[in-house]
Amino acid sequence: MTDVSMHLRFSAACAIAREAGCLIRERFLARDEALNFKFKGPQDYLTETDGEVEKLIATRIAEAFPDDAFLGEESGGQVGERLWIVDPIDGTADFARGVPYFCVSIAYVEHGKTEIGVLYDPMIDELFVARRGHGATLNGKPIKVSPVTDIRQSVVELGWSARTPFERYTKLLGKLNAQGAGVKRRGSGALGLAYVAMGRQDAYCELHINAWDAAAGVLLVEEAGGWTNDFLTQACLTEGNQVIACTPSLRDVLETTIKETP
Ligand code: IPD
Repeated sequence: MTDVSMHLRFSAACAIAREAGCLIRERFLARDEALNFKFKGPQDYLTETDGEVEKLIATRIAEAFPDDAFLGEESGGQVGERLWIVDPIDGTADFARGVPYFCVSIAYVEHGKTEIGVLYDPMIDELFVARRGHGATLNGKPIKVSPVTDIRQSVVELGWSARTPFERYTKLLGKLNAQGAGVKRRGSGALGLAYVAMGRQDAYCELHINAWDAAAGVLLVEEAGGWTNDFLTQACLTEGNQVIACTPSLRDVLETTIKETP
């Protein structure tokens, strides 16, 4: 693909993420206090806004790039050589419960490689963007992972969903805690990765996460100078994968600890 076509996709991803974010914010502020949500599975929330926002994003992408493939959390889709991977609201549980911590996540993947990653948090107007080989920015300013090298000084977010056994999660949490890490769990894997990219925390790990939650965030961490596992494999597109994203110095301890916690 020419640089111009890639740049067009990059600009479109940023504009679409902002437009989608504005709609999410509007719906969040006007939400029904009666807590109107459903579940797709155990602790797996679904709101009407997820579907509405995904439709908006899919429409905008199809208008601009009709030959590109689309894979979304809510509507699924098909994998292709030029592929958009979208999570309309990452952090749906918080969105549904009235907690302002969620974002839109849009990744563009060409021939299996993530080329563009854009996350937008509409509640605090933070736009995280990354383009392969061009670095990562937050609201236009370059970002870098933290300089933390010692696990005892680190903040590690350990995500969890009902897709993995809670016992394995708690075992891992216990080990990281014993090593001195400050372990957290917030409700958005995508924002958790963005927070690693800009140094608000030093690692984000999750034993299983879906491609739409993490593809954009993983590129952000890489482009911000961090290390990530080989996340977006072919199988990950349909089945998800483990994710480890951290400052380069924390790689060994995190990889080893996770491997030794079956
Ligand atoms: C979830 C969030 C959560 C992570 C889960 C994801 P959703 O995505 O990213 O933080 O731990 O693995 O499924 O349901 O809010 O889009």
